[in-house]
Amino acid sequence: VAGVSFIGSGSAQVETTLSNEMLSRVVDTSDEWISTRTGISRRHVANVGESLTTLAAQAAKNAIAATNLTPDDIDLIVLATSTPDDLFGTACQVQAAIGATRAVAFDLTAACSGFVFGVVTAAQFIRTGTYQNVLVIGADLLSRWVDWEDRTTCVLFGDGAGAVVMQACDRDRLLGFEMRSDGTMNGCLNLAYTANAVPLTNGVTTQKGTFTAITMNGREVYRFAVSRVPEVLEKTLFHAGLAANDIDWLILHQANQRILDAVAKRLKLPNERVVSNMAKHGNTSAASIPIALDEWVRTGQIQAGHKIAMSGFGAGLTWGAALLEW
Ligand code: ACO
Repeated sequence: VAGVSFIGSGSAQVETTLSNEMLSRVVDTSDEWISTRTGISRRHVANVGESLTTLAAQAAKNAIAATNLTPDDIDLIVLATSTPDDLFGTACQVQAAIGATRAVAFDLTAACSGFVFGVVTAAQFIRTGTYQNVLVIGADLLSRWVDWEDRTTCVLFGDGAGAVVMQACDRDRLLGFEMRSDGTMNGCLNLAYTANAVPLTNGVTTQKGTFTAITMNGREVYRFAVSRVPEVLEKTLFHAGLAANDIDWLILHQANQRILDAVAKRLKLPNERVVSNMAKHGNTSAASIPIALDEWVRTGQIQAGHKIAMSGFGAGLTWGAALLEW
């Protein structure tokens, strides 16, 4: 059985940013409300012509450039996204855009848990010896799907992409993981398809519809996150024989600063070890963890040998944790 290592990271943003102050001219809100309730100051929003493919491909190129590999070396691309350019999948377009000619590519949908689920999925292929070099991308353009008239959700989300390259090696640096789903709570957070009946021919009615906009029960999601995330992190640490204090960095899905603070408090982790960049990006869904990881790697804060606990949580509901050594 091969081990898994993490050999490079990358991220990408679209150019346009939308500050809280700008948003307060769109809906009835204020910088004060958004900052104090969420910790978000601004988010990136994609213009027409900026696609999930272009953003994910840029993050992927940056991640590969951080290694000694070329796109041709990549065996598998897992694209975690809930906002594809094409419902049939966007991973193959990313494959073409970066010239990863040998890679097989597919999308993985698990909302804000997508990146953690993607890393775990990639690890299975590496550990079985099937693939050597795997690119895992988390990318989302939630600005396409927010209701810009709904102040309870539109202030939260932003666009972005992040990626890591994972590689087979002797010593396994994925120290543990846990994944969870609870579909009974699905109604808390949705980007659901709604359809109208379309009569086709005698006795046959089909449907035609669309995905409307993100809907969320914020309080339920908050309660879910602050109870389930510490629990799954504690379990992952326990199975790896580690204590919270052994962790150099905690990278949570960047949903809300209050969630980060509550989880850190439960784990008794000092705030200096909790990665937070939501002030600059908002909640970028599947992209939030790899963007944060990449920013901390590029600024030299995360260094080789550091132990990182990651936890994603969101729609599904889904949640999970992965413990790794960088
Ligand atoms: N600006 C000003 N006022 C607002 C805004 C806004 N943008 N949004 C809501 N309000 C108002 C509400 O209408 C309400 O007013 P009322 O008391 O007159 O009815 C008041 O503010 C309080 O609203 P609450 O919803 O109770 O506010 P709360 O303190 O719960 O904060 C928040 C809302 C920030 C969404 C919080 O519930 C939260 O963080 N939940 C977690 C949500 C989250 O992180 N979701 C994403 C995670 S999963 C994923 O990433 C896909």
